[in-house]
Amino acid sequence: MAYPIIVSLPSPTVVTRHGLSNKSLGTRQVDVSPLFRSCGLKSNVTVELNDSTYDVNPREPKNNWLYPAFKAFQIIAQRRKVNSFASVGTGPAIDGIGAIEIFQPNEVILTDVNPNVIPKADENINNYLSNNHRSVRYGSFTGNLCDPLIQSRLMVDLAYGNLPNIPESGIDFRTMDSSSFAHSSLSTGVPDIYRDHLLSTQYKYLLSAKNCLNPKGEVLVNLGGRVPNELVEGMFMECGYFPKITFSMLKLQTEADIVLDGYSKYETRDIKFDFYLFDEGLRLLSGTGEDLPPKLIKDELNNCGLRINAKDALSLHRRGNRIGHIVNVISGIPS
Ligand SMILES: C[S@@+](CC[C@H](N)C(=O)[O-])C[C@H]1O[C@@H](n2cnc3c(N)ncnc32)[C@H](O)[C@@H]1O
Repeated sequence: MAYPIIVSLPSPTVVTRHGLSNKSLGTRQVDVSPLFRSCGLKSNVTVELNDSTYDVNPREPKNNWLYPAFKAFQIIAQRRKVNSFASVGTGPAIDGIGAIEIFQPNEVILTDVNPNVIPKADENINNYLSNNHRSVRYGSFTGNLCDPLIQSRLMVDLAYGNLPNIPESGIDFRTMDSSSFAHSSLSTGVPDIYRDHLLSTQYKYLLSAKNCLNPKGEVLVNLGGRVPNELVEGMFMECGYFPKITFSMLKLQTEADIVLDGYSKYETRDIKFDFYLFDEGLRLLSGTGEDLPPKLIKDELNNCGLRINAKDALSLHRRGNRIGHIVNVISGIPS
């Protein structure tokens, strides 16, 4: 299935206190307040998920991608004002809600390639705004990477993305597969070195985001540190950004079956991906390592021999071990 063209291009609308639409089958309510609390955010937030939206586990806040995302948002909020925020690949819009809490922006734009996701994101944003008596200029779109923003000529101060890396030719974008797999066609035109390290989505995202950033805007990439930091930094620079790792930590590999299997298939004699035995890593770093300078986390883990490749990680996972990987949230300021 090729990337869908944009199926909805609403103009951003002012959203204040809308009612929730009727629940449909396959939906469930999740109280994600513990995730917000873990980052010092006090609002009570409940969202509704469906079978297509990316999952969240609020009982273990730090094992979600949203924890490093919110921490990075908080660090960015200390150094600059973000008036307009976009999440590219928002899933159930928890990242958008976190951005509203942390940046207090005037405008939020949420996009996703999965057409079954955006209606749920809309509901969750409306519900949050209604419950918290807030208003924000809000728009949502279905489409590939930043295409919806570009086509609607929307520019933002911060474009955030936590996008899948594993190429797959036959994915159905209407299912939760869209969270873990990227269509192989995204690799077209990507330099071999980045394609072979499964960075094609990120490369294309960086290029597309440049077209929808305000003059002082920046891009933010939430990325598994499974490849060398220097390679990722080189990719940012090649795409026209100054990179900076804003936040870094050791995180549990979620969806371990499919992700480790996916990375294993792309390992070669020369290319191995970096994973770690999670509990040993936590012990070594005395926690997730989030208080350490970002580059030190990888050095500490690697120097102590805790690094394992994807194939070994998969077999260790199948024998009941918890596997971890580094997360780097990297900001890019156009050069
Ligand atoms: C790993 S989930 C992250 C969801 C949410 N941002 C979070 O951090 O919890 C990735 C999301 O990106 C979406 N996605 C995947 N490929 C995309 C693309 N090419 N363009 C836009 N969204 C995409 C998926 O449908 C999914 O909702």
